[in-house]
Amino acid sequence: MNPSLRLSINPGDDRLPITRGRISDFTDDAVSCLRGLWARHGHVAALEEGVQRIYFVFGPEYNKQVLSDAERFHSRFFAVRGAKNSAQRRLSSGLLSMNGDEHKRHRRITMQPFAKTSITSYHDAVVHLADEMLDAWQPGETRNIDQEMTEYMLRLTSSVLFGLDAHDLAIEIGRKTERWVALNHEIGPAAFVPNPDLTDKYEELLEAAEELERPIREMLRLRRLNTDGTDVLSLLIQAHNGEGGISDDQLIGQIALLFGAAHLTSAHTLTWTLFLLSQHPEVMRELHAELSEQTEGNSPRPDQLDTLNVLDRVLKESMRVLPASAYSQRITSQPVELGPFQLPPGAVVIFSQFMSHHLPEMYDEPESFRPDRWKTISPSPYAYLPFGAGPRMCIGAALGMMQLKITLPTILGRYKLSLEDGADVNAQVMSTMLFPTSRVPMKISLQDGQFTTPSVIGNIHSLVNLPPASSPLRRAA
Ligand code: HEM
Repeated sequence: MNPSLRLSINPGDDRLPITRGRISDFTDDAVSCLRGLWARHGHVAALEEGVQRIYFVFGPEYNKQVLSDAERFHSRFFAVRGAKNSAQRRLSSGLLSMNGDEHKRHRRITMQPFAKTSITSYHDAVVHLADEMLDAWQPGETRNIDQEMTEYMLRLTSSVLFGLDAHDLAIEIGRKTERWVALNHEIGPAAFVPNPDLTDKYEELLEAAEELERPIREMLRLRRLNTDGTDVLSLLIQAHNGEGGISDDQLIGQIALLFGAAHLTSAHTLTWTLFLLSQHPEVMRELHAELSEQTEGNSPRPDQLDTLNVLDRVLKESMRVLPASAYSQRITSQPVELGPFQLPPGAVVIFSQFMSHHLPEMYDEPESFRPDRWKTISPSPYAYLPFGAGPRMCIGAALGMMQLKITLPTILGRYKLSLEDGADVNAQVMSTMLFPTSRVPMKISLQDGQFTTPSVIGNIHSLVNLPPASSPLRRAA
């Protein structure tokens, strides 16, 4: 059991908003558990099992308290920490494992490659890799879009982080990081609920860490020979050189975190956006019209990215209704008052993007995908937070948005993607991220601007309200 969960609590105090139940309910089905706690208790609640207790906050007021106070609410990385001097410990030593002054200093330096001027230089790599993916697609075939987006983001993140010249090594690092992140995500819930099946996988994780560290060290060696590159790693080395340098051991952690944080979140955002568009032909039509008029079916140029207003609203709304990062956690570093609770040091506090984005007092018809709502609403940074908020807000937000705003028009300019009629689409939150847990099969045809609504089954209906199908199958059902 994670020692931080062995808290001294006061069971039996029925005046407090506590649900007594199984902590595994949260790890098994986070959305149902979060919804239940909110419906029962409102904006602050705790889930208690025996001597374990996890605290939950919902909505902008408490989000602000927890997220703006990085001194009392520390970050804890999803990765297992590993023994001192192990590859696992080095790989899990990135920004998300740092707090206090150490975090501030490293964050300031790590942010430099993500300044807007640097981001523009990644534009061509995004277009190149998106075109490469689309060249392999044929009209008439059906592809699992989640797998396509994950593979694409693997290649894109590898090239943005490490450059295109050492392509094979970059892809090797990408693939090995993917496996390492997946194992950490699998084992991570053991921090909440001890599970012998998961902890047995620990050995596998340690091996994966050692395997990943080898090509990262080789990439670092190559980049240190020539640091003129514009990839994130070269810029990071240049930035650190200006501040007295950084050791390879320290860089390893930053690189693993950057890859882990960037890759699946962006892939899932692309998948969910394409899925939501496939279910809303009126929105798809409006987006198609904007793209035809402004980019004429081509990839947008950097100067066009801020002028595509429908695209901007579509992405904002997709990240509201199905946020790739569904919740995150903090650990109290000292005693803190949180609503009616007196938290001891080491208490786990969860805040949730999914719940904050679905609160009826914040968003009209919160379960519906309605991009037009963004013409009139302007929620605070703590009410709408797909990239987090406060001093730990995502440093890749601008880069992530740039990648999404180039990739979607590039795909939609060339192909029409229609969800396979009757597809069974399911989602689950796994270690903070909202994953598609089934295939998302889409038929590829040349873009003709004609859109219908295919039918869909699966638990996706419990997360978002979908319109009735205009396809024969749903009408017959
Ligand atoms: C759609 C894509 C993305 C989403 C939805 C996303 C989401 C988030 C969220 C919610 C956080 C805050 C976590 C917390 O408060 O505990 C975060 C932090 C972070 N993200 Fe992203 N992210 C995305 C893309 C990226 C990219 C492209 C990069 C870099 C290449 C990146 C690097 C990071 C880093 C380093 C942090 C930690 C910041 C810190 O602790 O100071 N992310 N991200």
